[in-house]
Amino acid sequence: MKERFMAKRSLLVGFGGFLPDRVVSNAELAERLETSDEWIKTRTGITRRHLVGPNDTAASMGAEAARRALDYAGLTADDIDAVFVATATPDQAFPATAVRVQAALGMKQGFGFDITAACSGFIFALSTADAFIRSGQIRNALVIGSEVYSRIMDWEDRTTCVLFGDGAGAVVLSASDEPGDRGILSTHLHSDGTAGDLLYVDGAVGQPDKSGHLKMSGRDVFRHAVGKLSSSVDEALEAEGLSYADVDWLVPHQANIRIIEGVAKKLNLPAERVVVTVDRHANTSAASVPLALDEAVRDGRIQKGDLVLMEALGGGLTWGSALVRL
Ligand code: ACO
Repeated sequence: MKERFMAKRSLLVGFGGFLPDRVVSNAELAERLETSDEWIKTRTGITRRHLVGPNDTAASMGAEAARRALDYAGLTADDIDAVFVATATPDQAFPATAVRVQAALGMKQGFGFDITAACSGFIFALSTADAFIRSGQIRNALVIGSEVYSRIMDWEDRTTCVLFGDGAGAVVLSASDEPGDRGILSTHLHSDGTAGDLLYVDGAVGQPDKSGHLKMSGRDVFRHAVGKLSSSVDEALEAEGLSYADVDWLVPHQANIRIIEGVAKKLNLPAERVVVTVDRHANTSAASVPLALDEAVRDGRIQKGDLVLMEALGGGLTWGSALVRL
């Protein structure tokens, strides 16, 4: 039997992202929809998005993001004990996208499963992996968010299809007992199924009469977003006895620049301390936080030792936050 290693914390040691090649601008969408670059930009901050080609899937993109995260960490797939994939757009109902990723990485050891919490999926997966690590059950985990929302869009519905993009992001988490406070300090998860009809996918396996498209009451989701995200940010800081002034970086879910700015204002954080990718990626759901994190770590904005606050809200409703000392 494998010896249990009682970790003090889970450290984020690797970061990776993958965006499909095809870039679609607002202007291109406006050629076939009654919309405009101006409307999309002012309401959401989005200027363009990446969309998958026929061969990309949640598993293929997730595996590529994972390879990049492993490279960053200086680890190989052989070092990984578990793969957690947050996705609302799995390749198949089963097997889990996580085991497809395992196979793509050549892993025969360990285990993998998917986590469905829509746009909050990465925070939920990070929290799950952290619990497995701190319980001593695993030492190294891949935590991936990977989404192909372009395949659940109604491309005739301008109120939803302009908002989303495809992509994948990944982190490697490693057990650590080093002194100090680096690693995941705390995570805070919430869901409220009574608001399930505000944002959902119409249909699933066994419902062939349904469209299979994403449906959203945009204004209602917006109304919930700033309040719930702000309270989960407060919850994270209170749990650690920290204040807004201690936060070095906000890495928010990238749904809409107005939601991001609303939370940043509440935190009193200047725009330079908020990682924004929604302008170029649009909303990539569970992939948005790890993609933003990867970008800001690789370009040197986020440094070792920085206090990073991540938050997300999505269909469910689900919402949550993670406070991490990098
Ligand atoms: N182009 C042009 N006009 C549009 C478009 C479009 N793409 N979409 C809607 N409109 C029209 C509407 O039909 C409406 O017209 P009307 O007044 O003649 O009826 C008008 O624009 C205003 O529509 P609203 O829905 O009131 O616009 P609003 O300012 O609320 O912005 C938006 C809509 C951007 C969806 C906003 O509500 C929002 O961001 N909500 C948050 C939802 C979100 O981000 N969801 C993502 C998933 S959840 C998450 O990740 C947090």
